[in-house]
Amino acid sequence: MKTDTLFHGESCIHFCAIFPDMEATDTAFIRALPKIELHCHIEGTLEPELVFDLAERNGIGLSYPSVESLREAYSFTRLQDFLDIYYEGMNVLRTEQDFFDLTWAYLVRGNAQNLRHTEIFFDPQGHVDRGIPFETAVLGITSALDRAEREFGISSELVMCFLRHLDEQEAFRTLDQAEPFRDRIIAVGLDSSERGNPPEKFERVFQEAARRGYRRVAHAGEEGPPEYVYGALDSLGVERVDHGNSCLEAPELVRRLVREQVPLTVCPLSNLRLCVVESMERHPLAEMLDHGLKATVNSDDPAYFGGYMNENLEAVAGALDLGRDQLVQLTRNAVDAVFAPQSRRQALNDELDKFLASADG
Ligand code: ADE
Ligand code: ZN
Repeated sequence: MKTDTLFHGESCIHFCAIFPDMEATDTAFIRALPKIELHCHIEGTLEPELVFDLAERNGIGLSYPSVESLREAYSFTRLQDFLDIYYEGMNVLRTEQDFFDLTWAYLVRGNAQNLRHTEIFFDPQGHVDRGIPFETAVLGITSALDRAEREFGISSELVMCFLRHLDEQEAFRTLDQAEPFRDRIIAVGLDSSERGNPPEKFERVFQEAARRGYRRVAHAGEEGPPEYVYGALDSLGVERVDHGNSCLEAPELVRRLVREQVPLTVCPLSNLRLCVVESMERHPLAEMLDHGLKATVNSDDPAYFGGYMNENLEAVAGALDLGRDQLVQLTRNAVDAVFAPQSRRQALNDELDKFLASADG
């Protein structure tokens, strides 16, 4: 996949201004590296072209006259700007086929980028609250995941996120709706508007999810303070922190995350586009690695933020001058952090070793 097909309008201007030394980056190495993604919202892979196709198929009117005008609207100054447009975009997803097409498009792109394993998020409340049955989303998503495993050898897990701007009771209801699909959903997560919705609000739901055997993750420290990262660890019992950027404001928290080797699923282009960081040169990823934090690189909502796995890795490598060792460390961290069974983790590690042996030779 050519990078320039993925950068549009404002994002392209952003990209070119921010990575003047892109040529120096080891793009061939990045593209060939076997990749693991641990933080991608499937609804955030909805490209504007697909929004228009699905709107037409489902007879839905859009408030944007063209694909270009929709893409131009992807200009954000904070998380909430993005979330407003993200929830609006979801409205075109109506049938199982729509969820299949959405997920399949992500996996085809992933295959072109040498994606080997992905643990995707979905937001059931974003669909059920519009009258779309829980099973419509799960069946569409999982049939695409199954096909990608058969055809591309991309393994996957599914993580169900609770929307934190909604209340605890609604999250409990969602947990119950997931029961028939218990074997397909490996973990629960927590996303949406972070500020004002601390992790403690969902302590009891996460406790119940753990009792039912779910693994646990949560967005924390994206826009929220370090206290929210502590809350995710202590009240929700998460095994991975999604984003985690603000931990760097709290040295004791950094020491704990290093000591406990808690993976952070960091999303560089997302952080840039949502103004969590001022520029990619000031992104804290290199500092995180220097501290010994178990950081990984992910795309978050690639259709909205200007890039999938390769583009995220190229962006940070170019801006922070990351070498091969650091790129491999990020990938090893991701392998260590997967929720997939140990046999699959071992296979992913072996594949990485084989790739490195051939890249050396
Ligand atoms: N939902 C989708 N993307 C998100 C993000 N970056 N933060 C919080 N909630 C989200
Ligand atoms: Zn996210």
